[in-house]
Amino acid sequence: MTGNEIRKAFLDFFESKKHLKLHSFSLVPEDDPSLLLIGAGMAPLKPYFTGKLVPPSYRVTTSQKCIRTGDLDNVGRTARHHTFFEMLGNFSFGDYFKKDAIAWAWEFLTEVLELDADKLYVTVYPDDEEAYDLWHNMIGLADERIFKLEDNFWEIGEGPCGPDSEIFYDLGPERGCGQPTCTVGCDCDRYLEIWNLVFTQFDRTKDGKYEPLEKKNIDTGAGLERLASVIQQKDSNFETDLLFPLMERVIDICHGNYADPQQKIAMKVIGDHIRAVTMMIGDGILPGNEGRGYVLRRILRRAVRFGRVLGIEKAFLADLVDIVVDMYKEAYPELLERKELIKTVIDTEEAQFGATLAQGLELLNEMIAAVGDKKILEGRQVFRLYDTFGFPLELTEEIAREHGLALDQAGFDEAMKAQQERARTARAKVSATVAVPDTTGLDRSHVVIDESAAAGKIVILGNDGVAVNEAEKDEAVTIIFDKTPFHAEGGGQVGDTGFVMSANGTAEVTDTKCLPNGLSYVIAIVTKGSLKKGDDVTFSVDKVRNLAIARNHTATHLLQAALRKVLGSHVNQAGSLVAPDRLRFDFTHFSPLTADEIAAVEREVNTQIWKNISLEIEEMPIDEAKKKGAMALFGEKYGHIVRVVTVPGFSCELCGGSHVTNTSVIGFFRIVGESGTGTGIRRIEAVTGQAAYETAAHDSLLLARTAALLKTKEEEIPAKVEQVLAGFKESERELQQLQRKLATSSLDKILAAETDVGGVSVVAAAVQAESMEGLRDMADMVLNKLGTGIVLLGAVQGDKVNFVCKVAKDTVQKGFHAGRIVKAAAVTVGGGGGGRPDMAQAGGKEPQKLDAALAAGKKAVEEIIS
Ligand code: ALA
Repeated sequence: MTGNEIRKAFLDFFESKKHLKLHSFSLVPEDDPSLLLIGAGMAPLKPYFTGKLVPPSYRVTTSQKCIRTGDLDNVGRTARHHTFFEMLGNFSFGDYFKKDAIAWAWEFLTEVLELDADKLYVTVYPDDEEAYDLWHNMIGLADERIFKLEDNFWEIGEGPCGPDSEIFYDLGPERGCGQPTCTVGCDCDRYLEIWNLVFTQFDRTKDGKYEPLEKKNIDTGAGLERLASVIQQKDSNFETDLLFPLMERVIDICHGNYADPQQKIAMKVIGDHIRAVTMMIGDGILPGNEGRGYVLRRILRRAVRFGRVLGIEKAFLADLVDIVVDMYKEAYPELLERKELIKTVIDTEEAQFGATLAQGLELLNEMIAAVGDKKILEGRQVFRLYDTFGFPLELTEEIAREHGLALDQAGFDEAMKAQQERARTARAKVSATVAVPDTTGLDRSHVVIDESAAAGKIVILGNDGVAVNEAEKDEAVTIIFDKTPFHAEGGGQVGDTGFVMSANGTAEVTDTKCLPNGLSYVIAIVTKGSLKKGDDVTFSVDKVRNLAIARNHTATHLLQAALRKVLGSHVNQAGSLVAPDRLRFDFTHFSPLTADEIAAVEREVNTQIWKNISLEIEEMPIDEAKKKGAMALFGEKYGHIVRVVTVPGFSCELCGGSHVTNTSVIGFFRIVGESGTGTGIRRIEAVTGQAAYETAAHDSLLLARTAALLKTKEEEIPAKVEQVLAGFKESERELQQLQRKLATSSLDKILAAETDVGGVSVVAAAVQAESMEGLRDMADMVLNKLGTGIVLLGAVQGDKVNFVCKVAKDTVQKGFHAGRIVKAAAVTVGGGGGGRPDMAQAGGKEPQKLDAALAAGKKAVEEIIS
């Protein structure tokens, strides 16, 4: 059976047991801050286990994409560790329990997959008599095939957990460690855990308590790759059809040898990691410096590094994506759609890392070479490598380990702490944060956002995180109103500003933000009198500013649609800022935009402005919005009812921000900047309305000034510039010719100093040269002209004087030595030097004695002759 067939057989089997088959959830957890990535089949289903949400069926089965990175170092070194793997699972939410779970697991393994029952062993939690009894009496497993293990308890982050029972397959003694203690549960490869049945009966709370769940559940997980390795009778997961095509391609690329143990590790790492990287990017994760982005970056970079181990210097990972997509398109058709984006992201990151790697490795090698007897890399140096050169710490660790070296962790931590301290002080200086008091007691139904509200009441007044009853002039406060017209920062849009007035005081609102629970609050400074909790207040939102924000927000939607039209549908929003004076939009795209592309995008947006289109803003259920084709932000969580902002015929997005009523209000749109911000992400900065006009006016002025300077008409500037440049080139050529002439004539002058000393041609002269190198070139030229003999040149350079002496080959054979000659000269000016018989250089500090020094050099020649 192929991997694809095993997956299908599992899902079909549980479908026949009345389970609802669900597509794998994204690797990015939804609404679960306790997890960075989905690492088990049950993880996306937690709310169904706890009863927080009603499941679509009380029996569900999935093949879930999972990532685990706890054992990253082990990946590649064992037969069964992975970062990415698929977990087959069947789940019961308060429906069936241990009896059916055990019976069906056994049936699937022994009847559908037809595994040899004699090779199967199980473990149970020591207190779980019920599970023991079912295995022993219902299935008929002998006592010695059932092991009671204390660590048979399964949990992941917060949420549902419970005792479990694991099923092992005996791969035979030849795969074992040979230790007498080797048995089920041993770390070696002999007994392979192929399935875990968790009897989910507790809810682990944030503070670590185990609360019994109202209903008992079943959560099972069987690793697809492991099942495949057993059924396909392979030595490891890596030889199954779920991985081996990748190994083969890697072997092809590096012309390597899979039988070589070191190469094999590298190949396995790459095969494993490319699957993880493809799946992660496919689920919208991009390489970054924190959270999921960092996990992705780390895995990707590790793959590149192991590529280097195999001697692969060029970019090669994107090439493997085709194979991953090919293997998985049946189960995860969405990969096909995202293939090009995935490849581009990988390519860009790989290139960037290639540069970092080369630079970092060079430095690290120097550090390793200089390491003393203690065999420890100094913490401060390692930190510098990490901080200044962006060289990953775990890579340093890994390479150090390969050289039998350790890291000075304490020194590293200290350097890191000092750096963080510096950053913290720097931050503290620029932004004193205003904390919001606890709002748990607040009746949420009494707090509404109403753009048209002109008056309201102060419900909570906070000062530095504490609820207060009154705030005086000059105090910074946070205020929650029962009704608020202030638009909170969100979706890239900056918060509203304005004023709040009560009978006794006024406060200036400097920002509006939103708490994670959705409550909107303003940050304000009391500018007159005082404000009290309970005060009736009137609002004055800065309308001009808000309209400028709205222009830029609608323009951002038009920009996104225009980019997709001009560049393609791989363009996705990756960040945005909507401020009153400008907008900034980050999006996924692989290369800098050409001038033509920028012009096309700008024209497209302006065309929509000229078309005078009225916006439609409606609230509707999310399903309806999706049907309408509304674009959602990747990774953003939306409620059931969403707000949809449509520019009919052009753009449709989920958005809670401020917008103009009609595109014509935007007036004018101009792109003022295009740059790259990181792997596969481009950034466009643009302005609208008056700000756009101002940039155009500024450009006109620049053109007019340039034309005046060039004494021409604006439209003739390019031709004029070409003409000026051509003239400039011509002048340069003439200058060079003159310089050459000058050099030849000074050469003639130097040659005139030629004298005959005992039958040897000697030129000893003072010349002008800017550097030792210039002096050497000149000596070469002179000797060339001379053909034979000795050249000694001296030049004053600042407060120093330098000499070069060259002796022709045949003259050297006569016993002349450039080193001795130059030394005689240098000594005269209080210096020293020396060199080879045919070439020597020296320097001194008394330029005024240059002539005497040259004479001394000449004298040295005479002495040699005599
Ligand atoms: N949730 C259980 C596991 O991941 C099945 O092993």
